[in-house]
Amino acid sequence: MISQEMKILGLIGYPLEHSISFILHNFAFKQLKIPAIYLNIPIPLVNICKALEGLKYLPLYGVNVTIPYKELVISYVDEISTLAQRVKAVNTIAIREGRWYGDNTDVPGFIKTLEDLKLPKDIPYLVLGAGGAGRAIGFSLAEYGVQKIYITNRTKEKGENLIKDLKYYYPYLKLEIIPWEEKESFSEDSFVLINTTSLGLDGRTSPFKIDKFSKDKIYFVYDIIYNPYKTPLIIQAENLKIPWKNGLDMLIYQGIFAWKNWFGIIPPFDLLKKEGEEYLCAF
Ligand code: ATR
Repeated sequence: MISQEMKILGLIGYPLEHSISFILHNFAFKQLKIPAIYLNIPIPLVNICKALEGLKYLPLYGVNVTIPYKELVISYVDEISTLAQRVKAVNTIAIREGRWYGDNTDVPGFIKTLEDLKLPKDIPYLVLGAGGAGRAIGFSLAEYGVQKIYITNRTKEKGENLIKDLKYYYPYLKLEIIPWEEKESFSEDSFVLINTTSLGLDGRTSPFKIDKFSKDKIYFVYDIIYNPYKTPLIIQAENLKIPWKNGLDMLIYQGIFAWKNWFGIIPPFDLLKKEGEEYLCAF
């Protein structure tokens, strides 16, 4: 029921066709009887600066930020959490009396999934991508206690910047850059592979040729994309009987942790997981 007290929230990004955040948040509002509505706000790159300036005059209650604006939005917030400042990525904003407070819930969200999965800390992790999400994953792995992280990114400079920032905050962490073209020559004995790039969102492209490796070399495949539910990378992993995880749990955790800044409560994870799975598997 739409009412005058309705709080308006939404997701800023582009494109947003893959996003299910509006399904999950609106479902939780209904279940928990919160008078709020969550909208997709797709903004193409050519309009983003003007749109953000304009949005600051609208009576929004909160927004989330996704591909490709998590870094850009930093210059529009009035206040930023220490974590988001470190990661240099804001994925959620709480708005009070026109002031925007930017935070990063991708990091605690991803760490929660690592804990749930009990992934080992003493084997290397190979991270594909160093955009906003890649940076959050890098910081999450460091915070979780992983000892060695390899990073590979199409634009090498972004990978190097992430390594530089991680080294600053985690001086004892072992870090190495791998050229994007050479990532399939990776020679560690057993490793966890994490895709943070957008390759796979189209349901056709894979960011990594898993079949160049023997099955026992890849300990686990984690693709933070959740729509499609199984990306080409995950399908490859599944065919080779390598354990895998998609990005649905991370999406839900980062979303429910954003509620803390908005409403001071966290909705139940299981409720949203069921709704998310039903929605994604329905297609
Ligand atoms: P997000 O906030 O979700 O991380 P982003 O900052 O735009 O979004 O990052 C997208 C990631 O996907 C980046 O690592 C990007 O590589 P570049 O830094 O070189 O742009 C990666 N990516 C996107 N399209 C790609 C492609 N066709 N090949 C390789 N990497 C790609």
